[in-house]
Amino acid sequence: MSLLDVRQLSKIYAGKVATRALHHIDFTVEPGEFVGIMGPSGSGKTTLLNLIATVDEPTSGEVLIEGRNPHLLPRREKALFRRSRLGFVHQQFNLLDTLTIEENILLPLTLADTPLSEMAERLGSAAERLGISGLLAKRTREISGGQMQRAAIARAVIHRPALILADEPTGSLDSQAAAEVMGLLAEISEAEGRTVLMATHDAVAASFCHRVIFIKDGRFYNEIYRGGSRNAFFQNIIDMLSLLGGAGYDLSAIRR
Ligand SMILES: Nc1ncnc2c1ncn2[C@@H]1O[C@H](COP(=O)(O)OP(=O)(O)OP(=O)(O)O)[C@@H](O)[C@H]1O
Ligand SMILES: [Mg+2]
Repeated sequence: MSLLDVRQLSKIYAGKVATRALHHIDFTVEPGEFVGIMGPSGSGKTTLLNLIATVDEPTSGEVLIEGRNPHLLPRREKALFRRSRLGFVHQQFNLLDTLTIEENILLPLTLADTPLSEMAERLGSAAERLGISGLLAKRTREISGGQMQRAAIARAVIHRPALILADEPTGSLDSQAAAEVMGLLAEISEAEGRTVLMATHDAVAASFCHRVIFIKDGRFYNEIYRGGSRNAFFQNIIDMLSLLGGAGYDLSAIRR
């Protein structure tokens, strides 16, 4: 069974002028896969992640996570599903600045009433993996963007979700911090067998994926697998982006 099954997924935003944001998107993601979603601005990446996250409802089509359609769950169970089976990494980190880094990372476990000893153990290992053990007592304003994103990754993995959804996780970072954060995200997902779906404009970030799916105007365009080295994959991604081009793809986001 695939971990994620996206079937004929479509989204039309109603309004004075209706926007067709996604058009019959189909793909599957296997357990442990790290999949990137790329496409020009406005191509539907965030819409796709929001539908998978059950933050928004599809117009038609289905999302199955571990074989279940979370959109069919009653409201409370949907919320529970979201916080227990999914992990989120956002462009703006979304850490709470009234909490310490430790409290932020532990939030998903606090909400799940996890025993304290288990919390401490999981916190220790995630913090160590992400190189933030020394920052746990600090608050968000006392640490860098790259450090905040590493804390956000710790928070996204600590409850061992089925699927981690990341929307432009490197979008607020400089290129060095971005590459570091991606290296760590790839490492921790590999070590723990986590499944990740990440929307990004950043070809370097995408080169850490096993596979990149390209969408254009809300439609599936193409997909490429990493196979060989990360550098060769990076080049293939750049080539695909230039093919995709035209529709105002922001090439300034491509570093190097
Ligand atoms: N809440 C909304 N209401 C109406 N239209 C929306 C809404 N959210 C997104 N759209 C439209 O849907 C389309 C897809 O938007 P989306 O945010 O998914 O693109 P994106 O690929 O994430 O873009 P970016 O790379 O700029 O983040 C765009 O035309 C956008 O204007
Ligand atoms: Mg977006």
